[in-house]
Amino acid sequence: MRLTNLGLGAVLALSLGACGGSNAQSDLSWNSGDATASVSSPDGRLQFTLDVEPRTPVYSVTLDDAEVIGTSRLGLRFAAGQDLTDDFQIVSVETNTVDTSWEQPWGERRIVVDQHEELLVSLADPENDTRRYDLRVRMFDDGVAFRYEVPDTGARKVVDEITEFTIEEDATSWWTPAGEFNRYEYIYRTTPVRTMERAHTPYTARYENGTHVAIHEAALRNYGGMWLDQRRAGKLEAEIAPRHDGVKVLVDGAFVTPWRVIQIGDTASDLINGTDIYLNLNEPNALGDMSYVETGVYAGIWWGMHIGKYTWGSGEKHGATTENAKKYIDFAAENGMIGVLIEGWNIGWDGDWFHNGDLFSFTETYPDFDIAEVARYAQEKGVRLIGHHETSGSITNYEDQMEAGFDLYQEHGVTTVKSGYVADASDLKFRDENGNARYTWHDAQESVEHHERVLRAAHERGIAINAHEPVKDTGLRRTFPNAITREGARGMEFNAWGTPPNPAEHTAILPFTRMLSGPMDFTPGIFDLTPNGPDNENRVNTTLAKQLSLYVVLYSPIQMAADLPENYAKYPEALQFIRDVVADWEESIALQGEVGDYTVIARKARAKDEWFLGALTDEDPRDLTVSLDFLDEGVTYTAEVYRDGPDAHYIDNPYDIVIEQIEVTSADSMDLPLGASGGAAVRFVPVE
Ligand code: NOJ
Ligand code: CA
Repeated sequence: MRLTNLGLGAVLALSLGACGGSNAQSDLSWNSGDATASVSSPDGRLQFTLDVEPRTPVYSVTLDDAEVIGTSRLGLRFAAGQDLTDDFQIVSVETNTVDTSWEQPWGERRIVVDQHEELLVSLADPENDTRRYDLRVRMFDDGVAFRYEVPDTGARKVVDEITEFTIEEDATSWWTPAGEFNRYEYIYRTTPVRTMERAHTPYTARYENGTHVAIHEAALRNYGGMWLDQRRAGKLEAEIAPRHDGVKVLVDGAFVTPWRVIQIGDTASDLINGTDIYLNLNEPNALGDMSYVETGVYAGIWWGMHIGKYTWGSGEKHGATTENAKKYIDFAAENGMIGVLIEGWNIGWDGDWFHNGDLFSFTETYPDFDIAEVARYAQEKGVRLIGHHETSGSITNYEDQMEAGFDLYQEHGVTTVKSGYVADASDLKFRDENGNARYTWHDAQESVEHHERVLRAAHERGIAINAHEPVKDTGLRRTFPNAITREGARGMEFNAWGTPPNPAEHTAILPFTRMLSGPMDFTPGIFDLTPNGPDNENRVNTTLAKQLSLYVVLYSPIQMAADLPENYAKYPEALQFIRDVVADWEESIALQGEVGDYTVIARKARAKDEWFLGALTDEDPRDLTVSLDFLDEGVTYTAEVYRDGPDAHYIDNPYDIVIEQIEVTSADSMDLPLGASGGAAVRFVPVE
């Protein structure tokens, strides 16, 4: 609907200074010179208001009329003094209502509902016709999104995006620092908003009245990733990760920015349940047939390197040998797993591989690794080899070889490749058109565009990508569904060598922060919780039952069974849960939780009529009672419960686990006593 006058729909209230006329809406009075436009969410609770008076576009957001985002500036600045900041008027407004749904090839739920109200505002400088842009706003019940749509004015350099997110209250927030060397891999900080300097997104805050907010972005393409920089108290300004030359974004012609997204919920769990917003803001599948994407649990020659049992490089402790690979393939086959990741198979790991990415070959194997024989053996056993491409951040070296690397894997039946970009943030290396070495950020425009090229090249060969040290997820897996999972936060590996290892609360924060953005290859399932000995600081700060809960709590369509086969052999009853759990879901529901304290998540399997539940807590023990009303009505289930024993404690007694079976229906509730940094995992199987 294009508005040429003021006949306004229920969700849109508008006053146009430029057109004059009277305002049909009583809640927005129009005065000469004013220009505001607003739009509400389908349920009417959220409202976004754009105000272009005095000619500087600002916006604000309310929930049930209470301010959530205070007056915040909008705009972009370009090199050569051009800008899209001040001196604007609204010249036209369009609205649109969308109520539809679509099906995911894999995901946290099969059917995604897209219900939103859209407002498209055209802004222009009345004195200079080259200065114009559109602001497209989409209102969902779970949050607000907007982006800039800029018409063609040739090649330009964006030097600053000045979008603000004003949080007036000094709310509690959870965040990791941006623009530091370790990319997204920091321990979460819990601080008042005012104490945050510069953070990655998703950035999560809880207001005094219980309202929860998460700021993130969707559809990050041909642009740099957004950091949040607190310039003035409570004013979080978009700071775009810079390119190698300091420019934020190079554009050529018309362009759109990623969506700026503010998720808003009444509870912490609402944030988890509201993440379809990111998928809905991305374009539909651009790749086509995704039948090669396989979900499930995989094993790997991996943890052994992190705890020093094996090496990636050649020598006596080389992990990726043909013989060892066969041992892991046997383990995967015996336990119904889909594949075996093998790291350290290719030339380039000897020496300081962290800093010598240019030495990696993606086609040449070490002499003790016979890729054809390993792939043949895997096929015979009904599992797949999962590929590995560590680039150490040398993008050009990788791009020169990636097609050959994917060809080799395709030849051997590989349909998933894990990639890696181990290098300090800002040290991703590429050669420019003149052959000069350039260094850029992991989330700069150059990296964002690199990852898209990788996804396309991989798709041509029927390969899905699991990127480590990646660009954050922004829902792009809808458009490129072979972006199957990624890292992008501190994963399990930090427990092997991180200083310090992940604290007990880490996985009670992730669901409300990093996981909002999409699947994570956290690599759960460590059964020997003190791999460096009981007195070493580096240990896994959870109980055994909490390790099992991670398969349900931390969504990923491929989940690693990360420990060594010999450690799983010590706890065959607990291993049974990993054998039974699936990784592709018909539906997912966060039932309970508080950021940094605990979470309870239920998921229904896509391929069979089973439900799974994961619950975990931080360092505080907790007695949870969970209503089972999510279960299908009228069905009796055997609940296979794996929970902390009465004396379970992550430091003193982590292996105390109770495994029991009970019959339940949706009318029941279940008591889950969780020990310190404990958890519970439950499989619900319909009784025949
Ligand atoms: C870091 C990744 O997160 C880890 O999983 C991998 O083993 C190493 N890089 C080596 O590629
Ligand atoms: Ca990593």
